[in-house]
Order: sequence, then structure tokens, then C-alpha cells
Amino acid sequence: MRDDLREILFSEEQIEKRIKELGAEITRDYKGKQLMLIGVLKGCFVFLADIARHIELDCEIRFLTASSYGFASVSSGKVNVDKNIEFDVDGKDVLIIEDILDSGITLTALHAIVAKNKPASLKTCTLLDKPERRQVPFTTDYTGFVCPNEFVVGYGLDYGERYRNLPYVAVLKPEIYS
Ligand code: PRP
Repeated sequence: MRDDLREILFSEEQIEKRIKELGAEITRDYKGKQLMLIGVLKGCFVFLADIARHIELDCEIRFLTASSYGFASVSSGKVNVDKNIEFDVDGKDVLIIEDILDSGITLTALHAIVAKNKPASLKTCTLLDKPERRQVPFTTDYTGFVCPNEFVVGYGLDYGERYRNLPYVAVLKPEIYS
């Protein structure tokens, strides 16, 4: 392991196994529906790429961009997100794909924006859920792992736009970000 990391929380093997399970569950739940996956950039790019290949359904894949952390290790509380969705969700069964649910601010904002555009149904799927950090109440419909209250990187999650390419989720040493 690199010396800027404290420990590996979720290994490549654990993630792969869990994503296969989630993919199978989503495949069962959305059978016969018009599934649209909306990935939330940038953190979702690894998770979405992997889970999409375990969803054995004909589905549309779209992206929205949201950011609130910048180079900080805690949410700024303000989410920058495109308020006008440039694709049609009307009548689609939408599943928002995120890497992490932390304060809940990002998914609350995105959920409201997508809901306004009248999808047939709207659910969320996050690889990680950090319930201890919630500032606004939000629950995901599909969760990969419950994550302890640690600053995690890897598998799409960054610190200062680095670490996203690690194949596992690891705890960053506090001296790196404090
Ligand atoms: C991260 C992550 C989620 C959000 C979750 O995004 O990808 O979108 O924070 O945190 P919250 O529940 O506290 O809102 P970030 O703003 O770091 O942008 P990024 O996806 O480009 O890394």
C-alpha cells in the first residue's frame, strides 16, 4: 500500500463481489422497465462503468455534474449542479448512480432537480454510505457498503483530483489533507 494511505477499507475483490450483487438486484427490480442510469460526475465514473456492466438490461446512460468539495475535505454546503437537464427523463425509470452519500446535500439537490422533470420513478444507488456524516436526511435505495466516518479515497473518490484511479477504497492519512 502507498505510504499516504492508512488502510484499505474495501478491497478490489470485495467491491467486485458487491457490485455483482447490486447489478443482479437492479436487473431483477427493473426488468421490463425503461431504465435510465444517471451518473453523477466526476466521482461516479469508476462505479458506474463497473455496475453498468452487471445490469443485464437495455438501458440509457446519462450524466450530470455536481460538485461541492473542491479541494476541501468537507462539503462546502453549496452544490454546483446544472439545473437544466439537457435530456428527457419524462416517463423513464431513473436510477441515480453516485460514489458516496456523505452529508446528503448533493443527492438531495440532484433528486429534486431530476424529480421536477417527471420521471416514471426515481431511485438512487451509491457505492458508499457514511450515515454518521449526514446533515440532511437522505436514504439510498441501493447501497454498496456502509462506510465509517473516515476520509476515503479511491475507486473514483478523490482528494484534490488525485487518488480516483486506485482500484480499492482506502483511508487517507490525516496529515495529507489537514
Ligand atoms: C462528492 C461525491 C458526491 C458528493 C457526496 O463529490 O462524488 O457527489 O461529494 O457528498 P455529500 O453527500 O456531502 O454531498 P465532489 O463534490 O467531491 O465532486 P467530484 O464527484 O467531482 O469528486
